[in-house]
Amino acid sequence: MERAVISPSLNQNYLLCPSRAFSTRLHSFSSSTRNLSPPSSSSIKLQHSSSSSSVLSSVSNGGASLTRCNAVLSNSSSTEVSELADIDWDNIGFGLKPTDYMYVMKCNIDGEFSKGELQRFGNIEVSPSAGVLNYGQGLFEGLKAYRKEDGNNILLFRPEENANRMRNGAERMCMPAPSIEQFVEAVKETVLANKRWVPPLGKGSLYVRPLLMGTGAVLGLAPAPEYTFIIYVSPVGNYFKEGVAPINLIVENDFHRATPGGTGGVKTIGNYAAVLKAQSIAKAKGYSDVLYLDCVYKRFLEEVSSCNIFIVKDNVIATPEIKGTILPGITRKSIIDVARTQGFQVEERNVTVDELLEADEVFCTGTAVVVSPVGSVTYKGKRVSYGEGTFGTVSKQLYTVLTSLQMGLIEDNMNWTVNLS
Ligand code: COI
Repeated sequence: MERAVISPSLNQNYLLCPSRAFSTRLHSFSSSTRNLSPPSSSSIKLQHSSSSSSVLSSVSNGGASLTRCNAVLSNSSSTEVSELADIDWDNIGFGLKPTDYMYVMKCNIDGEFSKGELQRFGNIEVSPSAGVLNYGQGLFEGLKAYRKEDGNNILLFRPEENANRMRNGAERMCMPAPSIEQFVEAVKETVLANKRWVPPLGKGSLYVRPLLMGTGAVLGLAPAPEYTFIIYVSPVGNYFKEGVAPINLIVENDFHRATPGGTGGVKTIGNYAAVLKAQSIAKAKGYSDVLYLDCVYKRFLEEVSSCNIFIVKDNVIATPEIKGTILPGITRKSIIDVARTQGFQVEERNVTVDELLEADEVFCTGTAVVVSPVGSVTYKGKRVSYGEGTFGTVSKQLYTVLTSLQMGLIEDNMNWTVNLS
């Protein structure tokens, strides 16, 4: 990614940007630092090379590798872009890449959240008796930030929806939750503080992971007396190893993800631990993920371990309705709205496994997976394939509209994106 190009006309008015090696050292000596001002305003002017990528140069500084950003060029063709972290943006995948800062906000015994603050990203300390560790009192969220074409502006996708869903989940799990304003402000601050980790347009996104957990000590079964809200972020690429190629699902007949009256409809951490067994068995057999059926009739589709499911038949789109056992996905909801504005009929209802096997097209939606085409489904040993190894026509259309909107490539008539710069 780094290239040694220094403009001869550049004076010594440059910025030294921490490279990975440098930021690691920073982390280790400042882990107890509090109230750090985020380097979010370190937006600089970079000269465009012919390939239009940022012009960066490596310099050596007493053994520490620093990246020099060619700054403040008066060239009128220069565009305002922010510095980028020094990683291989072409191979990000979906794994944690520690970034610079995380956001931490505590809630005391009176249910009041204190003012949160940015801290260096790092480990946290909790009591072995914390509610989250002993009784699973925890929720998480997931949303994404995209870098716009100009290289500087960042778009968040519907953060208030995540705030709202966390509040609903907290109510179910007997936890206090940040207000919608607190949540959205915290997300903005965290993303801006980690701005250099937002991938260039087309290379991925910054995945934002808010957590809410009972960190107060309990022994008898009860809600924890104190709570912690944390946001960390990581640049991500495609969720499935297949990339944007179709995934292969197995319909699970024995394990269930959720039960009526349970917590399947909220984003509690235990829902995800509960699917690991079926998922690992499926992966060992070569499947990408598991599709769950309802636990009463074993006949109606629920969701995949990490995403919601849609089928298309004769150009009509159907997806399981939200009824307490299915996560109300924000991408699910957005795709339904996008599809309707594109003129499709969309039905939220019970969808049977027989309909799945007869469908023209099947696809999944989720923050992490975005829109993922399904290439095959295996049910009781019978494998049914869809399409020609690529996106189906309908899912491709919906994927294109949604992602163009998320990346700011088309006008946001839905008013879903939040611009940060
Ligand atoms: C998301 O899509 O954001 C999720 O929370 C799913 C998770 C399994 C990565």
